[in-house]
Amino acid sequence: MAALLARMDAERAHEWALNGLNALQSYPRTLRILSGAGALGQWTHLKVRIGDLEFANPVGLAAGWDKNAVAPGALASLGFGFLEMGTVTLWPEAGNARPRIFRGRRGQWMINRVGFANDGAWVVRERLQRLQNSGSCVVGVSLGKMRTSGSDQLLSEVMKLLEMLYLDAAFFSVNVSSPNTPKGFLMGRPDFLAATLKELVQENRSLAHRLGRLPKPIFVKVAPTVNWDHIRDMAASLRTSEINGVIVSNTLATPEGGLSGLPLRAVSKSMTARLYLELDGKIPIIGVGGILTPQDAWERILAGASMIQIFSGFVFKGAGLIGKICSHIERKLALLGLDRLEQACGMKAKDYALE
Ligand SMILES: Cc1cc2nc3c(=O)[nH]c(=O)nc-3n(C[C@H](O)[C@H](O)[C@H](O)COP(=O)(O)O)c2cc1C
Repeated sequence: MAALLARMDAERAHEWALNGLNALQSYPRTLRILSGAGALGQWTHLKVRIGDLEFANPVGLAAGWDKNAVAPGALASLGFGFLEMGTVTLWPEAGNARPRIFRGRRGQWMINRVGFANDGAWVVRERLQRLQNSGSCVVGVSLGKMRTSGSDQLLSEVMKLLEMLYLDAAFFSVNVSSPNTPKGFLMGRPDFLAATLKELVQENRSLAHRLGRLPKPIFVKVAPTVNWDHIRDMAASLRTSEINGVIVSNTLATPEGGLSGLPLRAVSKSMTARLYLELDGKIPIIGVGGILTPQDAWERILAGASMIQIFSGFVFKGAGLIGKICSHIERKLALLGLDRLEQACGMKAKDYALE
């Protein structure tokens, strides 16, 4: 089956995998056995807390793999600590013309120019409402603006999305760094980004107050860069906005689309370390980009990530990677005599920042 999927058009293979998982949604024990998660038990030292949210382990599924929340129950059963559904927009979007996902299995890279193709927030909300039990797996949603909207509409559209999905997701992320979405790329505009995020954080608080809830954590997903000046500007924007976390990073922009996987690894890792130092470790970083082995995940924690996400690693290595990463990190913590993951966070940031 894996060999068949590998030979198929990348997007069709993806749809097959997603539908297959969806079909197995009602068989969580089978999924746990298939991924190896069933035999691995609980991770005693790997719990992470961000705000009021507790994560059973630090391995998440990155945004874009299940854009429409088709199979969150099944993905939770595979052993992920958290899932980022989406990116979702207010109304359905068709995205760019196919083919728009390409991958190199040998070089372990992916290129995509999907754009925010998705079923829209109403459909995604209905699916999330049908999700009865994700166990200890935390489910959040990535939010983006419509393709034809200007960047000045990002805030109002994200606010509408927040309001719609507030009760059906545990956290939200704002995608301001997709290279495939016109006027949605705010990375070169630090002042505008800071103002947008600040307003969003305030709106989140008043929305929570109105609904009689605690504010939901909001993360922002940024584009990869190793330019110290850009990273300093970014850190300043993040600090003034009081955002709850930052996802480092989205794909690398190329003329063909966003590049993921192995070629992104060094940039994302070094950026994580640099941003960790600039933020003084005060805003949690979720590390993503080229994490293809358990050692990659461990190094991302040492660079300064509190948690990590996988996309290409999940595609090329399968669900077994989740448990392997958790076992590896537990072993490394034991070797260092540490009993909490957060004690390892950023331990090598100074070294990795110079790489
Ligand atoms: C086919 C594809 C679709 C993606 N869609 C999204 C998306 O909708 N929103 C988003 O924030 N990131 C999206 N990403 C980026 C991933 O979440 C991740 O940041 C990137 O692939 C780097 O991680 P990796 O090297 O483990 O693949 C997408 C990536 C791929 C390959």
